[in-house]
This record gives sequence, C-alpha cells and structure tokens, in this order.
Amino acid sequence: MNSVISNEEIACQFPILKQPIHQDKRLVYLDSAATAQKPLVVIQSMNAFYEHTNANIHRGIHALAEAATEAYENARAKTARFIGVQDARQLVFTRNTTESINLIAYTWGRKFLNKGDLIVLTEMEHHSNLVPWYVLAEEKELRIEFVRVQDDGTLDMRHYLDLLEKKPRLVAFTHMSNVLGTINPAKEMIQEAHTAGAVVVVDGAQAVPHFSVNLTDLEPDFYAFSGHKMCGPTGIGVLYGKLDLLNAMPPFLGGGDMIKKVTFEGFSTNDVPYKFEAGTPAIAEGIGMGAAVDFLESVGMDAVFTHEQELTQYAFNVLADVKGLRIIGPGADVRGGVVSFTLEGIHPHDVAQILDSKGIAVRAGHHCAMPLHQRFNLPATTRASLYLYNTRADLDALRTGLDKVIEIFA
Ligand code: ALA
Repeated sequence: MNSVISNEEIACQFPILKQPIHQDKRLVYLDSAATAQKPLVVIQSMNAFYEHTNANIHRGIHALAEAATEAYENARAKTARFIGVQDARQLVFTRNTTESINLIAYTWGRKFLNKGDLIVLTEMEHHSNLVPWYVLAEEKELRIEFVRVQDDGTLDMRHYLDLLEKKPRLVAFTHMSNVLGTINPAKEMIQEAHTAGAVVVVDGAQAVPHFSVNLTDLEPDFYAFSGHKMCGPTGIGVLYGKLDLLNAMPPFLGGGDMIKKVTFEGFSTNDVPYKFEAGTPAIAEGIGMGAAVDFLESVGMDAVFTHEQELTQYAFNVLADVKGLRIIGPGADVRGGVVSFTLEGIHPHDVAQILDSKGIAVRAGHHCAMPLHQRFNLPATTRASLYLYNTRADLDALRTGLDKVIEIFA
C-alpha cells in the first residue's frame, strides 16, 4: 500500500482487472482518461435493475414504473449531492460530456449569442469543447479566441485577463486537461469571467472522477461531465446548469417526456430538467451512475486524489531516465493523473502497440485535442492515465515496457 487507498482492496473490486490479457499477461490498465473500469457494485446495480425493476420512468403508475422512476431520480439526487449541488433539478442527464456541451451550444448559444459576439476558449480544449462552438460560430458569425497554453502546459493567465477585457459573452474551458493533466484554477477563472460579464461553461470530464468538485463553491453557469470516466457506465452524462439559465433556454430534442402538453397547434415544455430529456433515457445507466457515486464516496474523493498524485509523482520518477522520453505538461505536483509523453524517433502508435503486447493499455494519438498537439508541434503523444485502482507495480510495468520499446527500435 502506497497511500491512503489500499490498492489490493480497490483493484479486487474491478472484475476486468483480474482477467489476463493476451492469454497470460497481467492487464495493466493505464487508459482511464479514455474510460474508467467499472467496479462490481456498478455492474450489479445495472443487472439488478434489469432483473427486478425494469420499466419506463415518469410514465407508468404500476409498481415497477414507480420503482424505476424512484431509482433513476435517486441517482440524480446522489449525483447532485456529489458535486455540491442542493437542487437536483439543475442536473440534466445527457449521454456524455460531449452531448452536454452540444446541448448548451444548440439551446443557450443559439438563443442568446448574436453575430459578432466573442467566445473565449483555451488552446488545451478537447474537441468536445471546441467543435460545438465552431459549429455555432459558423452559423451565427461569432468570433472565437483562445487563451494561450504556456510551454509548461499551464494557461497564460495574463492572456486570459486580456481576452476578458474584450468582453466575451461566453468563456468555456476544461477543469483538467485530458492531455497535459493541468488542473486549471477554475474558481478564479470563473470569478474573473463573471466580473467581465461572461457566461461560463466548464468541461469537468477529467475533474469530477478524480478530485472533489463543489459547484456551490465554484459557481460556474454550466458544468459538464460523463459517467463512464468515473467508474460508471457509458451512455450517461451530466449537464449542470443554473436554474434561471436552464429555464430560459429552449428545449434541445423534441419528443416524449420533455413536454407538458401537445396539441395540433403546438406544445408547451416540461419543467427542468425534463425539458431537456426527450425520449426514454438511459435508465439503467443513470442507476449505474448513482452506484458509481456511492462507490467513489465510499473511497473518498480526497483519498482518490491523494493516491493519484502520489502515483503521478512515482510515474515521473520511474520515467525520469528513460532515454529520449519527454513528458509534456506541468510538474507532478500541479497535475492530475495524466502523463503524456514522446519517445524520440519512435511513433506513439508503435509505442502503444508494443506496450499492448505486454498487457499494458495506453492511448496513443492526439487524444481528441489536435489543436493542443499543434501548439506543441507534435503530431501525437503516448498517454498513460491513472485512476484509483492503479498501483506502483503498474508504473514499473510501464517502465519495463518502454525499455523493451527502445530495445526494439535501437
Ligand atoms: N476524452 C477521452 C480521452 O481523453 C476520450 O481519451
């Protein structure tokens, strides 16, 4: 045990981690920034729903329908509490972070942004916090400017303040970079953007799974994250929005559940959050998300963060003398558990393929952040990303694997 988290106790709750890969190799899973593995309690909660409670929600008055509705709404309430939100109506269930941000762009953005308005983004954004704004900017003739990323992988805060002087209508930034691991000073950035009169969208996809996030303290206008990166299932995500903004926004998709009344003349919308949840939602996944919240709370988010910080520092130590290896982003003390690197003269896809043959799962490529790679003049990087079930042994295996890669390409 290297930290407050007992690796053995945690890892044994994840069935997939006990399964050998490539016949007889131990699985070393270092790709949690792409998606996290799921503990048994999450898998069981979804199985139990299908075995005992399956029914549609918000519609039926039979026992199963009521039980399913209660379980789904409990999951929403739990998730709200988890991120420090008192009023669960402020949480819209979506498919994922990408859909959450698209929802804002298509509804709030379309209604409230006008020709010539400025949107401020940063150079470290994931495509999901770039492309929805590009689409909107093209449609509505908006301007976009990007906060510069410095060579050390942190945002240039002086430049941020300069851009705020231009009075943007919207500021959207990631809480933690999925490539650099940089944790941005969200509270300060939100306050400054509000002082400049902007509405603030935060992409919390890499933050909520890894450290304690309290939206009552941060006060963003919108905050988005995904269930599958926090030990929950795929197909469920969250959009938090301030109530007055959600109420003022037009609906996103039309259909069942998002209406109060439909006539031959038109329709009236349901109350939030249902106004934004058209059609039968991902009920089992919502319940799985609630189970993931219970699981993470039982470990404690401070313990998760401490564990990842210790492991990140260990990764830096273990990788320090690998020949030709360069880590991008800030030092281990100011980043989350994401370590992206290049190996001189060896393409990241080759690195990842050889590591895979040893049972080590990493991601190689642009990690859905092509502009950021362009900023660092890199076509691609190899990324090892950590979570609560990882151990020092996983990083020792990464080191041994990289030595093998170098030997092959020598
Ligand atoms: N956003 C995910 C990643 O960084 C898919 O890999």
